[in-house]
Amino acid sequence: MSSSDFGKLKEMASARLDIVILHSQKGGPGKTTLSCNMAHELAKRGNKTILIDLDIAQPTIQHIFKIPDKKIKHTINDILMGKKKVSEDVVLKTKYPNLHLIVAKENVEYGEGLLSLLEDIQQYSFFALHEMTKFLKRMGFRYVVYDLAPGYRMESVNAAAIADARIFVIRPSTFSFEGAKQMLRDIYKKLDIRSLSFFVFNQLPPKLKDESQKLLEDWKDELIKIYKPDKITFLDFLPISFDVMEQGIKGEYIFPEDSILYEKLSEMVDKVIQNIDEMKKNRA
Ligand SMILES: Nc1ncnc2c1ncn2[C@@H]1O[C@H](COP(=O)(O)OP(=O)(O)O)[C@@H](O)[C@H]1O
Ligand SMILES: [Mg+2]
Repeated sequence: MSSSDFGKLKEMASARLDIVILHSQKGGPGKTTLSCNMAHELAKRGNKTILIDLDIAQPTIQHIFKIPDKKIKHTINDILMGKKKVSEDVVLKTKYPNLHLIVAKENVEYGEGLLSLLEDIQQYSFFALHEMTKFLKRMGFRYVVYDLAPGYRMESVNAAAIADARIFVIRPSTFSFEGAKQMLRDIYKKLDIRSLSFFVFNQLPPKLKDESQKLLEDWKDELIKIYKPDKITFLDFLPISFDVMEQGIKGEYIFPEDSILYEKLSEMVDKVIQNIDEMKKNRA
């Protein structure tokens, strides 16, 4: 590379890259739905944003953004296994301005194929994620949103370790709550060096009895108490929405702007980016 090429690259590079991950202990609370909508909102506000599918065993993001197979040369799978160095041909455009993707491979070989793939990824992912962060910064990205696999998979935990903001998504059920407590206490607290944690309850019934509402408020307080209260932030109680379900039948996943979920999501994005800004300002 000539020195003038290098100059160009440096000009493009973003001065700051913030990493947001969405995680849960159990499957299904809404990580993918919320990560797509958060990345979409960050991009809509003019930030060059990339959404990365790290849920290798259940890839979804290619489908959500309707990316045809022929557009995909490489996936996150190759990078996480060290088969391919991260480069521009992994990054896909979407129909939304400023919103880019790295997708996971949809047609993996099942049985032995999938198991050995998952094992290789576990080994290499920490290094791969670090390399990816450096590369995305050079490409001028301002935000990276990782949609993670649930539970204790190594690449999820590694992504949680390098994130600036970790959003934990919880369903309103005792086992989802117990899982969240366990994960926050056993993993996140220990990784908590330079990042912020957030949590959100999703898929609440629209009309809660007072008694249930009170229980949820208690869970919220308990989660804050078992964690370092100055390092964890409660985001919101999000309702289950039949409109979102109906949209899913039509293959639409971005919340319409006149919906309550959009309003709440937009406030969540405000809170998360304000907290990251403050953390980074204090650190500087
Ligand atoms: N607030 C909500 N209202 C209605 N449906 C929702 C809501 N949040 C998520 N869903 C639906 O729940 C299912 C699981 O959500 P998903 O985002 O795939 O969860 P995860 O990625 O955590 O497994 C999807 O069908 C999604 O459309
Ligand atoms: Mg998911």
